[in-house]
Amino acid sequence: MKAAEYTRFGPPEVLEVVDRPRPTPRSGEVLIRVHATTVTAAECHMRRGRPLWGRVILGFLRPRRRMRRLGLEFAGQVVEVGSDVTRCAPGDEVFGFTGFRLGAAAEYLCLPQSASFAPKPAGVPFARAAAAVDGSTTALYFLQGKAHVRAGQRVLVVGASGSIGTYAVQLAHRFGAEVTGVCSGRNADLVRSLGADHVVDHTREDFTTTGERYDVIFDTVGRSSFARSRGSLTERGCYMSTATGPVSTVLSLVTRLGRGRRVLSGMSVDKNASMAFVAGLLADDALEVVIDRTVPLADIVAAHQYVESGRKRGNVVVGITPDAL
Ligand SMILES: NC(=O)c1ccc[n+]([C@@H]2O[C@H](COP(=O)([O-])OP(=O)(O)OC[C@H]3O[C@@H](n4cnc5c(N)ncnc54)[C@H](OP(=O)(O)O)[C@@H]3O)[C@@H](O)[C@H]2O)c1
Repeated sequence: MKAAEYTRFGPPEVLEVVDRPRPTPRSGEVLIRVHATTVTAAECHMRRGRPLWGRVILGFLRPRRRMRRLGLEFAGQVVEVGSDVTRCAPGDEVFGFTGFRLGAAAEYLCLPQSASFAPKPAGVPFARAAAAVDGSTTALYFLQGKAHVRAGQRVLVVGASGSIGTYAVQLAHRFGAEVTGVCSGRNADLVRSLGADHVVDHTREDFTTTGERYDVIFDTVGRSSFARSRGSLTERGCYMSTATGPVSTVLSLVTRLGRGRRVLSGMSVDKNASMAFVAGLLADDALEVVIDRTVPLADIVAAHQYVESGRKRGNVVVGITPDAL
């Protein structure tokens, strides 16, 4: 089978499409024929081995052997199951998240049945389902799981036209919040169409100097800081950034002790519950999946170059089978 792998940290060009034997599921494992995966900003950081503290997980000098195949989200069909698998059967169409196992950038993917995946709603194309996993479940984790966003609150989403951002705008709007999206002018109409009440064009205006206050500031692209955003929060407002690390962990512990503005941080790993929620939204056609472009596996280097530019709108899909291209 074809798979996209890398053996050293570095630029997109370290990626290679190679031939590997098709895996065989062991007891409790599921073999999935991958129809579509994506290239995410998170994988670009992993490929570069950044941030450096991340190498505790990724490998210090080289990527760990079991993490050399990228691919965080997928949609495909179960083709074989090991003994003791009760959760799905050959023929089932599923979509999900590989987490730190990675490996979806390949024609076949083997996962334990406990991994984060859900039945793909009938009629939803594989490309759309694959692109609906990480961004939406991460947005849900922060907005619902951490900030408990509720109707009437004012929510600011930085990076509103990215993968997490396009879902964050939709979910905050769905929870009844008044939403402000921060993006460049070229993406303002897209962000408004997803449910933003206001848009701040970051190429012309700095949201920290507008005088507006928010109950929740959610920076999906890690371009702001709590120190600079503090003045734009209401007295008990919370600041969240997807750029998790030692600093945000310490800030969240320290600000939790006080009664004022807080930093909330974390990383969504087990996505099974949120996958079921997202599957429901997709089935009801209640979630817009923004796809910037779809490329074949052979073009994975170009896809990484584009995603790394930081300018993608929504998601970049990699179609592995012809029906996902
Ligand atoms: N903590 C977690 O659990 C978790 C989970 C998944 C991902 N992540 C992290 O989340 C980050 C974002 O991922 P993503 O896939 O959503 O990003 P993305 O899709 O690559 O973000 C691209 C978007 O960012 C916007 N952007 C760039 N600079 C901006 C600025 N200064 N202000 C506002 N918007 C700006 C761009 O819009 P314009 O072109 O309009 O500027 C573009 O549409 C990654 O660093 C990833 O590692 C964290």
